[in-house]
Amino acid sequence: MNSDTDSFAFTSARSRWPVILTGIVDDLSRTTLESDGEKAEEGKALIEKVGALKYEVEHDRTLVPLEDDGLYDVALYNSEFERQGPMSWGNAPWLYSECYLYRKLYGYLQTTAHWKDYDFFARQKLDAFKSSEVAVAELAIRYKTLSGQLHGSVSKEQLHLLFREFIDISLWGNATDLSLLTNLSLDQLQSLQGEKARKESEKNILVNDVDKAWDAIFSVEGGRVDLILDNAGFEFYTDVLFALFLLDSGLADTVVLHPKAMPWFVSDVLPVDLPVLINALGSSSVFTMAREEIDFLREQLVKYNEEGKIIVRSSGFWTTSLAFWEIRENGLGGGHEVWQDLKESKLAILKGDLNYRKLTYDAAWPRTTPFTTAIGPLATNQVKLFSLRTCKADVVVGLTEGKEEELEKAWVDITSAKGKPETGKGWAWSGKWAVMPFSSGKN
Ligand code: F6P
Ligand code: MG
Repeated sequence: MNSDTDSFAFTSARSRWPVILTGIVDDLSRTTLESDGEKAEEGKALIEKVGALKYEVEHDRTLVPLEDDGLYDVALYNSEFERQGPMSWGNAPWLYSECYLYRKLYGYLQTTAHWKDYDFFARQKLDAFKSSEVAVAELAIRYKTLSGQLHGSVSKEQLHLLFREFIDISLWGNATDLSLLTNLSLDQLQSLQGEKARKESEKNILVNDVDKAWDAIFSVEGGRVDLILDNAGFEFYTDVLFALFLLDSGLADTVVLHPKAMPWFVSDVLPVDLPVLINALGSSSVFTMAREEIDFLREQLVKYNEEGKIIVRSSGFWTTSLAFWEIRENGLGGGHEVWQDLKESKLAILKGDLNYRKLTYDAAWPRTTPFTTAIGPLATNQVKLFSLRTCKADVVVGLTEGKEEELEKAWVDITSAKGKPETGKGWAWSGKWAVMPFSSGKN
């Protein structure tokens, strides 16, 4: 709940959302200035609406049902709204109110003629990706070297090691999401993304089922792997790299990428972010280093995409407020269709923090709760899933007895040593620890 003073939900609703909304107003202002005629007029109206929404959030106003903008999910949001009962911004379930916030913003765009597909986070996403240049180059070089080796004979053990490495890269790619880390300097961003930082972070993986995920992949020849994406830019680049590795090595025949269908939680991937990524990689003014290696990687990506081996498939389910417990036979809001789809996959990999919150119902589980309990019906619904999540919110499950206390103490020590002591609970949303739980779907 946003009213829980000990939670990150509390800080999010009061400090982060107003900053995010201000960022949207700035972006809209820039685009409005570059526009004329009806589009500029609509831009001004949008700026006013977002400004008014920010005022409501900051003054803890009551939430009202979504206006009908003609899209299929309004009824779903509003029936969930009824179910929750009266809510204000400062006193609402965090998951529902945060999804509602982004959905409301998308609704504003739907009332216009010229802004329907506008992404107010596109500039930010691209700028952050550009500032990842060093890590982008480092990984492109690594990928090209490995591709050469993959064409020779590679043992199962070597493939297993590489699998672990690419998973690791994709996991820590999630540490750089823009909704949290907007103030990072270039140096800080690069030090988060480099190989050395990843190696040092290995001890911070609190739940590590990577070998179970490996078994799920290796036990079926070829087949399909699904990536339920999270953030655009550098994280998406690491996910694409992982997809290329799966296809190059024959560990999968196809990889299905699942982006969001509307601007979501600032930095999430939209379908258009694949061409945006391909263009950015192709531009020698954006990425000046390791050109040969980046071109090589880009060509592989374009080729697999054209051959239908990398497929992009978007579902409105990912932007409802519903927990992933709905990914089941009688699931609501598109959950049934997603269930039917993912059952065909040999592994569904869910990236990031929000996906983990939705897997676990964003509930206040005791931290020693088994993951397969916290994901409810998903644990028995035939979908093999693997979550790659750096911890950036309150919910964390699957810890061993005593671990939580140890982490709380560690976080007090770390923050005190920096002269800014924080509550021990902050470890869970610092982004410094991670979990990688697996479920076979057959518990
Ligand atoms: O914790 C802050 C937050 O914005 C959460 O609201 C959300 O779960 C998360 O960050 C987004 O992170 P990710 O991009 O990893 O899902
Ligand atoms: Mg995200």
